[in-house]
Amino acid sequence: MNLADIRPRLLMGPGPSDVNPRVLAAMARPTIGHLDPQFLQLLNDLREMLQAVFQTRNQLTLAVSGTGSAGMETCVVNLIEPGDPMLVCVAGVFGQRMKDVAARAGARVATTEVPWGQVIPAYQVEDAIESLGPFKVVGIVHAETSTGAAQPIAEIGEIVHRHGALLLVDTVTSLGGMEVDVDGWAVDACYSGTQKCLSCPPGLSPVTFSPAAERVIEGRKSKVQSWYFDMNMVRQYWGSERLYHHTAPINMIYALHEALRIVLEEGLPARWQRHALHHRALKAGLEAIGVRYLADPDHQLPMLNAVAAPEGVDEGAVRKRLLAEHDIEVGGGLGEYKGKAWRIGLMGESATERHVTALLSALGMILADLGACEGTGSALAAAKQVYSRGMG
Ligand SMILES: Cc1ncc(COP(=O)(O)O)c(C=O)c1O
Repeated sequence: MNLADIRPRLLMGPGPSDVNPRVLAAMARPTIGHLDPQFLQLLNDLREMLQAVFQTRNQLTLAVSGTGSAGMETCVVNLIEPGDPMLVCVAGVFGQRMKDVAARAGARVATTEVPWGQVIPAYQVEDAIESLGPFKVVGIVHAETSTGAAQPIAEIGEIVHRHGALLLVDTVTSLGGMEVDVDGWAVDACYSGTQKCLSCPPGLSPVTFSPAAERVIEGRKSKVQSWYFDMNMVRQYWGSERLYHHTAPINMIYALHEALRIVLEEGLPARWQRHALHHRALKAGLEAIGVRYLADPDHQLPMLNAVAAPEGVDEGAVRKRLLAEHDIEVGGGLGEYKGKAWRIGLMGESATERHVTALLSALGMILADLGACEGTGSALAAAKQVYSRGMG
């Protein structure tokens, strides 16, 4: 296939999201060397911008070469030595993945779980620590992309520290789309991805470690099991030593640099409010045509709308039509929601009124065609009403 023939889409799935042309242009800048002083300046800028977006002063803040899962592995393998006890909070597919990664790293893993669509109450985490602990690390997913539920973190940080453990948080889906406050929530290790609310192509994973986590990594008795993700080595490239470890993905770094500039130009609170507004409009529109949300109503993510396909509707066939007839990509269900749900992303550049209106029109038309709703009118009117009320 000729790349010139690729059709642009509206990316409204669980990632990647639409990418700003400024970011694509940044990727096309001339490749320079990974030890070129200009590039080293970009790495310094990137660390500062990541600190701002994560809301942290952590020195050990950088972008791991690899997608969000690479960030997950980096955090786990650096904090865990074989036999260390780790509690993983599981509320969906990405909590399950963290459990798998921890077990492969040799942790003695315990879990605490809730049914899909719910969040884990702080008292449940504390009960698990008291009955199954002590633990070296407690891991939890902030925005569970498989269920569309937003897990409150602040209270959990206090509990985890009171019990002498480190808190590891997955912010792959949340960073840049809702509040993430690494220092305020006392998070010790946190990772994200570029292709969701940062609206950069996939390929890097921002990570940050607290001073306490750094001390744990420095004081390890055994070598980090992964050579590639060993922070004791990688940080000597990102730090003042500038020691070669692996060749940095130069043009991806350009892309993230530009994407973070865009995030900070907009401002974090404005960006969170924008995601919340378009979520409210989409939700009003979907509910007007009888499409039901799956996550607990008090804990729905703004950027990932997990909804049930109406009874008798083949969700996969509808997704295919959205793509083929309207150039709109949405995601299907994972795990327990496989074959039953759509996951509609409003992430970064894809959180706009144009996206919401296009999706409601296209989905309304397809569902009306299948006899599953009356038409698009009520959905668009409901969304419009939300927009007329504004950010409020
Ligand atoms: C919450 C969460 N964690 C981790 C990942 C893994 O990220 P990636 O697919 O970029 O490796 C994802 C991807 O969707 C995710 O949503």
